[in-house]
Amino acid sequence: MSVKDVASSGLNEIPGEFRASWQVKKASASNSNGQSIPIIDLAGLHGENRSLIIEQIKTASEEWGFFQVVNHGISPQLLDETFQASRKFFELPDLEERLKKYSIYSDKEMSQVAKMESETIKYPSNWRDNMVLNYAPNLDTQKWPTEPPNFIEVNLKYNQALYHLKKELLDALSESLGLQTSLLNDVLGEGQTTNMIYYPPCPEPSYAFGVKPHSDPNSITILIQDEVGGLEVHDKHGEWVQVKPTPNAFIVNVGDQLEIFSNGKYKSVEHRVVPNHDKVRLSIGSFIAPGFTTHVKPPPELTAKQGQLYNGCIYFDYILKFFVTDLKFNKGFNKLNI
Ligand code: SIN
Ligand code: FE2
Repeated sequence: MSVKDVASSGLNEIPGEFRASWQVKKASASNSNGQSIPIIDLAGLHGENRSLIIEQIKTASEEWGFFQVVNHGISPQLLDETFQASRKFFELPDLEERLKKYSIYSDKEMSQVAKMESETIKYPSNWRDNMVLNYAPNLDTQKWPTEPPNFIEVNLKYNQALYHLKKELLDALSESLGLQTSLLNDVLGEGQTTNMIYYPPCPEPSYAFGVKPHSDPNSITILIQDEVGGLEVHDKHGEWVQVKPTPNAFIVNVGDQLEIFSNGKYKSVEHRVVPNHDKVRLSIGSFIAPGFTTHVKPPPELTAKQGQLYNGCIYFDYILKFFVTDLKFNKGFNKLNI
């Protein structure tokens, strides 16, 4: 059954499969020092503001591993259309059947991983439905939903726009590390997989996770959320801080491959999603990743001072370890030495 069907069957309690054994306290949008996740205005990224913006990206990546961007060049109309197409898809009848049909990784490696994951990981299930669109390097529109009728067209436009934005962001991140502009995009930017997520209302939001605490195994994630909120970040003081819904803003976070490549200068931090009692929440997250055969390790420019702190490895080997053992939830996982 889809989680949407579970949610709409009139339950007062969440079924055991989804139940966390502790109470999850909802976070506020600032920590006890009054700090919140930075919002960076990208207007002028190609003008005289570039060095200022890059400095802000650097500070946010060092301090939080998360930031939001506004004036990123993707039109609010396209964002609206994409959210609407996603909402219509998840509201179609027989969602379970559709998710089975479409929510498949086209890469044979990823489907192998997904199968192993479902066989090995025994944690409460996430209170959400999701569907994956592979965009790069293997565009597989033949596996994208054909309903609503404009779904493919809109999501192609969205993913094209995002592909451009991810290059802008990786270039800026590369400069922020003092590296040649295109280096990060060349090493970490080959793959783009877009995850459309639908979080149904939850009768007991403090005993369930929309998404359990995790860090992202890929390079960076570029995500857009609607106005409901629920994404929370574990800050460096150990507090959970909500990412405040900000109209038309993208949330950017450092993933494990950028942590490794940056030799630990930027950290891939834990985050989670808490469900909402009354409202559906939608988010659309694009995972930017290296090619599966790319060997990710810190470049010499970043190891001169402190030495090489991370061994690094082939991205596919990383993904296998991440999903197949309980590394996914950071239990005994050592990113330094994999
Ligand atoms: C995730 O990190 O997996 C999902 C984030 C979100 O929906 O806000
Ligand atoms: Fe995530």
